Amino acid sequence: MAKVNEQTLILIKPDAIQRGLVGEIVTRFERKGLKLVGMKMMALNEAVLREHYAHIADKPFFPGVAKFMQSTPVVAMCWQGLQVVDAVRKITGITKAREAEAGSIRGDLAMSVACNVIHASDTVENAEKEVKRFFKDDEIHSYDKSEYTHVYAEDERAV
Ligand code: PPS
Repeated sequence: MAKVNEQTLILIKPDAIQRGLVGEIVTRFERKGLKLVGMKMMALNEAVLREHYAHIADKPFFPGVAKFMQSTPVVAMCWQGLQVVDAVRKITGITKAREAEAGSIRGDLAMSVACNVIHASDTVENAEKEVKRFFKDDEIHSYDKSEYTHVYAEDERAV
């Protein structure tokens, strides 16, 4: 059953850091009504990138992705909400940013496949692994968000 405490992992990529888009990206998730439960700036090493991008590690473009992702620190965030993984993927838009739907983060803010401003977990199963990959247990916070009474109906908040 869908739960209001489902979590997803977002990485704000180096292109967004360089272009000063951190606030814009965070604002979009806040305005959607999602709960921010973890956030930090971190430099990624080759080992974590090999693990995170294992599904593209044998692609010719992987070395370029690894270099790009180490060109500045990234901002890692964990957002929480009802069916948040799917909701965030919709807000994010497709990987090839120049074809992403207008109104999505990539559709509005990016033109590239690699420099596509954020990474977002693609499934609930991967989101659980990715949150653990980038955050220690004590870096994920639990608190009541007063706005929830206006974001969700009572039955949605209960699950
Ligand atoms: S996704 O969004 O994870 O489903 O996208 P996917 O197609 O699996 O791509 C995984 C990441 O690889 C990057 N990518 C590329 N970089 C450079 N050149 C090419 N051709 C290319 N294709 C994919 C893309 O930015 C994805 O990064 P994340 O962090 O997952 O968005």
